[in-house]
Amino acid sequence: MLRRPRYSDVDARLALGRDPEIYRMFGGDASFNRPYGQADAEAWLQHTIEHPAAWIIDRGGLIGDVRLDNINRHDRRASFAIGILDPKLLGKGLGTAVTELVLAHAFGALALHRVSLRVLAFNERAIACYLKCGFSIEGRERQTALIDGAWHDDIMMGVLAHEFSTAQDRPHGK
Ligand SMILES: CC(C)(COP(=O)(O)OP(=O)(O)OC[C@H]1O[C@@H](n2cnc3c(N)ncnc32)[C@H](O)[C@@H]1OP(=O)(O)O)[C@@H](O)C(=O)NCCC(=O)NCCS
Repeated sequence: MLRRPRYSDVDARLALGRDPEIYRMFGGDASFNRPYGQADAEAWLQHTIEHPAAWIIDRGGLIGDVRLDNINRHDRRASFAIGILDPKLLGKGLGTAVTELVLAHAFGALALHRVSLRVLAFNERAIACYLKCGFSIEGRERQTALIDGAWHDDIMMGVLAHEFSTAQDRPHGK
């Protein structure tokens, strides 16, 4: 289920903490090991509540969030961001289902024409998920992130409204 955030989500967000593998997928260093605390959870929640197009991924409680950032009404585009924050729930199809829901909203109710994203090149699970949802790889920005002392590239991806419809009409990944 996707729903708007509420202040009572703070405990669930605190319990999820900062998993090192997931943190790395967002460009974080393994050496950053400060515990995820109450203030972090409250700041995260406040930002999510104030965001005009952010939703909680709820599966019997908060497990992550998804956003359409920088919605541009003139050009009818936005950028996409998602994080499932429980490592036990990765790779089970949830990200694909959530991405499809948000793209359906973006191209349906919001009447957007294009949704784009950037993802670290080593995040193969995320790239596989986005390809299944109709995104194409549009480019590569070299050495955009310095993680644990090594440079990593960003992959730029985008999907247009008609491409999402086409992707929905065929089995995943075909
Ligand atoms: C990115 C994310 C939303 C994808 O959601 P998910 O539920 O984990 O992914 P799904 O199970 O829907 O799909 C993943 C696909 O990648 C494949 N996959 C899973 N683990 C993989 C791995 N380690 N390497 C490569 N591919 C992998 C799966 O097989 C699946 O493809 P298939 O259905 O064709 O078999 C989720 O992993 C996540 O939130 N990760 C942590 C934060 C993050 O990376 N956010 C994105 C930053 S741009």
